[in-house]
Amino acid sequence: MHYFDYKNGELHAENVSLREIAEQVGTPFYCYSAATFTRHIKMFQQSFADRDALICYAMKANSNQAILTLIAKLGAGVDTVSGGEIKRAISAGFPPSKIVYSGVAKTHGEIKYGLELGIHCFNAESEPELIRINQVAQEMGVKAPVSVRVNPDVDAGGHEKIMTGKAENKFGIPWKRIDKIYDLIASLENLEVVGIDLHIGSQITDLEPFAEAFKRVGTLVTSLRASGHNIQHVDFGGGLGVPYKNDNDIPPHPDEYAAMINRVAGDLGVKYIFEPGRMIAANAGVLVTKVEYVKQGDGRDFVITDVGMNDLIRPTLYEAYHDIKPVTEPKDGFKTRKVDVVGPVCETGDYMAKGRDLPIFKEADLLAIMSAGAYGAVQSGTYNTRPLIPEVLVDGDRFAVIRKRQSVDEIIAMDNVPDWV
Ligand code: LLP
Repeated sequence: MHYFDYKNGELHAENVSLREIAEQVGTPFYCYSAATFTRHIKMFQQSFADRDALICYAMKANSNQAILTLIAKLGAGVDTVSGGEIKRAISAGFPPSKIVYSGVAKTHGEIKYGLELGIHCFNAESEPELIRINQVAQEMGVKAPVSVRVNPDVDAGGHEKIMTGKAENKFGIPWKRIDKIYDLIASLENLEVVGIDLHIGSQITDLEPFAEAFKRVGTLVTSLRASGHNIQHVDFGGGLGVPYKNDNDIPPHPDEYAAMINRVAGDLGVKYIFEPGRMIAANAGVLVTKVEYVKQGDGRDFVITDVGMNDLIRPTLYEAYHDIKPVTEPKDGFKTRKVDVVGPVCETGDYMAKGRDLPIFKEADLLAIMSAGAYGAVQSGTYNTRPLIPEVLVDGDRFAVIRKRQSVDEIIAMDNVPDWV
């Protein structure tokens, strides 16, 4: 559920009209609802209220400092995947004890940074990484808390580019080799086992693949403990899907997800860690854009907007569906037309929707691309020298720009022209 609704014929974020924001900050812009973020974090926390559980928001979904600060204040932890993300987390107020650090290519410097801070856990993805973590910890005279990411070889369905739990994916260690890996850890003096983790993919709308993977991990926990390894937590990763289309593909509620986990792992006597990203952020944000032109093609019409694939890459990269709503509510019985909603970038793949039945738009109309709070702004770039667009946070009746619009001059100033050119 989210707080983007029509009020007095205009789409609002909580109590603020998107048109009013557009008038003040220009288009395009991302707009987030603080109440929606808060609601989603609390919902997840409540689903596990009777367990020892830590929700570590996967900040890759949306890592704006204002969003992170909001989430840190709700008592959540954070899942990070780079030294940069760890730095963001610390400056937003997350205590190191609530930071987990995932990712397949942790550098010497990043490991050192995590150890200096005393983060909760390194989620290791390979033997060479464990050896490197041990070496850095030895140089610093400390013990590194580690967990190993299991690749359970489970097909979670969905788009191939966001599935991570199959044997052919680069992530984790094959579950059949896990015993040996924990024996390796036990032999390395500067490592300390704290848990086990997995993450099987993203936008998963069925509990079955989760249950299958988690059962496999449950069996591993039992056998690892029998071999003397001190598994204190299971980190179940993220991946719970969100409703991108209004009526289709309604994913399981966190309560159903919690019931499934308690069924398959409830008796293990472990602390639970979760890394939800999309479920927290996706429906907490929209992307507002303006129609520049409406163009008649041969057999299809194009609504050309001022937002491009550099601002939101999900439709073209993952064939992702985002609902598109007019900011001004269409009148009852309005007509629709099948159109492609495209952007200004010089690429055929620059589209937000294809062959979509939408109300009839004209130049200067405002549109909201829904469910754009996760993997939107964070995946944007400046292709075609298009400056990064602003992010706005709404809270009740007030709003603030939480990332300003970049200028073309700022982009140009990043480059250096040597005097010998
Ligand atoms: N934990 C780990 C280790 C991950 O790799 C991810 C996401 C998450 C947690 C959070 O997963 P979530 O709850 O958000 O599904 N850019 C793609 C999604 C990539 C997800 C990468 N890993 C998209 O726009 O769909």
